[in-house]
Formats: sequence, structure tokens, C-alpha cells
Amino acid sequence: MNRQSQIKILVTGAAGLLGSHLVDSLLHRGFRVTGIDNLSIGQLRNLEQAMTSDRFSFHKIDVCRRSDIIDLEPHHVIVHLAAYKIEVPGLHGTDILEVNSQGTSCMLEMARRWRCRFVFGSTSDVYGKSDDLPFKEDSDLVLGASTVARWGYASSKLFDEHLCFANQRRYGIPATVIRYFNTYGPRHDLTVKSGGPQALFFDALLRGKKMIIHGDGLQRRAFSYVGDTIEMTTRVIERRETEGEIINIGNPNEDISIKDLALLAWDVMGCAGVAPIEYIPHEQFYKSGKFEEIMCRIPDIEKASRLLDYVPHVSIRAGMTLTLDWQRNLDEYVAGDGCS
Ligand SMILES: NC(=O)c1ccc[n+]([C@@H]2O[C@H](COP(=O)([O-])OP(=O)(O)OC[C@H]3O[C@@H](n4cnc5c(N)ncnc54)[C@H](O)[C@@H]3O)[C@@H](O)[C@H]2O)c1
Repeated sequence: MNRQSQIKILVTGAAGLLGSHLVDSLLHRGFRVTGIDNLSIGQLRNLEQAMTSDRFSFHKIDVCRRSDIIDLEPHHVIVHLAAYKIEVPGLHGTDILEVNSQGTSCMLEMARRWRCRFVFGSTSDVYGKSDDLPFKEDSDLVLGASTVARWGYASSKLFDEHLCFANQRRYGIPATVIRYFNTYGPRHDLTVKSGGPQALFFDALLRGKKMIIHGDGLQRRAFSYVGDTIEMTTRVIERRETEGEIINIGNPNEDISIKDLALLAWDVMGCAGVAPIEYIPHEQFYKSGKFEEIMCRIPDIEKASRLLDYVPHVSIRAGMTLTLDWQRNLDEYVAGDGCS
């Protein structure tokens, strides 16, 4: 029996984009893996490959339900990814704040019981409106007013980050916080609840609809292909020198405006002519009347490359092509070229 197969890793949010790819990566490296997810967003089809391994087990569990989690057998590492993101139509701010705070609190309680490592999936949203680009882990965090719904997600994740390090100080739980920057790829959610612009643009085109852009499309993001993000995450788990650290994980190489991303989606589809794009003002989409956009978000990944010996290398065009290859074969779509 090799060493890895004796190490048990629990991944929450296992049926989601990052969780399912992380499960596959950890199984590939030889670890024993337990996945938990309440399937509110993630889908079991994302775990089809993992389900064929006798080193994997899945439980449909809500991370906020302490009574369900308490019976799990001890693990050596918890990777906590289950969460809700920014408030959008169909996703209430109360649920985001409660799931993200209570879920993390419950999972940290398990880490204390098991005396195990805790790796937490935070977000670049915590940098907020800061214009001190690229964002470094020790940069100031500039969040807006609590009357603006979008900051609820960042606030919940920032609370969680503090909870991780407070547990480390008081109980000796080794904690690592990963701040993920926009990641995309196969298995992305196809709805506004958790889907990124790549999946939503392809979804619109494959249904013969217009690509929807919120705002003017000039906001810029540095996107990381899921394969790169997950290789870096796997190395965080493998390397104990990441304990006690906050680490940005993302790809600073090719930041792109959302409008140019839509044009790229159209191009990757092989379509000609004018790309069908509809612009919707933030106030109309979010209905809360108040929205604050982050105009640019780029990670400084010096710490990640130093600690993990890895830099992301999948280009945005190559990653978009891989995403489309997956998406156009889903049952959701009828055959067609998607250029109508
Ligand atoms: N993908 C990104 O670009 C990105 C960027 C920043 C941060 N993150 C963070 O990384 C983590 C994973 O993101 P993702 O993109 O894979 O999201 P995702 O929505 O695809 O996955 C999250 C999973 O958590 C599950 N979940 C939600 N509430 C739950 C609960 N109460 N109990 C059990 N399961 C629950 C969902 O069903 C889903 O499968 C999240 O914490 C997210 O905040 C992701």
C-alpha cells in the first residue's frame, strides 16, 4: 500500500466545478477521498469518473447540518469548498451568509475533532474595490457598504478566513486559505447562481440566444483554466509549508474584458458575422438598485509559484476550446452549430 492511499481527504462542495476536478486530481495522486455536497448547485454527473474508484465515496450532506457531519469517520485533511457566491436572482443573500458562515464553522469543528489540516476556498472578491493591482495576499481589502448586496459574499468569506486563523491560533488547527480568482472550464454550473461568463456565453449560443453582459462589458478579469487552478490546489494539499498562509490562485497572464470574452466565445464557436450580445444594466439585473462593479481583478501569484513550483499555462483560447468541447456534448443542447 503506498503512503498516499493511507491519507484520507474530505472535499466539501465535491460535485461543483472546483470540487469535482479536485476529487479527480487527488484520486489520480493516490489519495483516499470522501466527497460531500448537498447537490443544490453541483451535479452528480461531475463525479462520474470518481465514482469508478474504490478510493472514493460520496455523501449527499449539507455542510450546515452538524448532526449529519458528526458521524463521518476522521480524515487527515478537510478541503472546504461548499459555498454560495454573489447574490443574484434566485440566490438569497441570507442563504449566502448563513451557508458560508455556518458551513465553515461546522467543518472547522470537524477539523478540531479530527485534529486535521483545514484548507479553505476563499475568493478574490475579498480584495473588493482595491485598485492596488495586482492583488497581493497582504494587500488591504476594500469592501463597500453593507447596503450593497454584492459585498455579502466577500464579507462571508472574509469572516471565514478569520475563523480559520482564529482556530489555528486557539486550537492549533493548521489552516491554509486559498483565494481563488475566476476559474472556468468543463463542469461549470450553467446558471447565473454559480456559472461563469464562459459557460453562460456558450449556453446562450448553443440555445440560439444572445450572450448577456451585465454592465458595459469593460470590466476586466484574469481567468484561470480549471486544470491549472486544480494543479495548484492539489500542491497546496501536498505541501505542509503552505500551512498558515493565504495564497492567491489564479492566472495573471491574460486579463480580458468581458466584452472581448464574449467575442472570443463567438470566435471559438467558429461563428462569423456580428456576435449577438445584449447589454443589461446592473440595476435591471440585480433589481436591488445598488451594485458596485469591480473593474479589474488580477492576482499576484509570486507566493503561489514560490511555494508550489507551478505557474498556470493554459491560454484563454485553449481553455475556452476545452470548455466548449465539453459543453456542446451535454444533454441540455440539441445538435446544431450554435451560430444562428
Ligand atoms: N470558480 C471560481 O472562479 C471561484 C472563484 C473564487 C472563489 N471560489 C470558491 O471556490 C469554491 C468552489 O467554487 P466552484 O466554482 O466550484 O462553485 P460551485 O458552485 O461549482 O461548487 C460549490 C458546491 O457547493 C455545494 N454546496 C453549496 N451549499 C452547500 C451546502 N450547504 N452543503 C453542501 N454542499 C453545498 C454546491 O452544490 C456546489 O456543488 C467556493 O467556495 C467558491 O466561493 C470559486
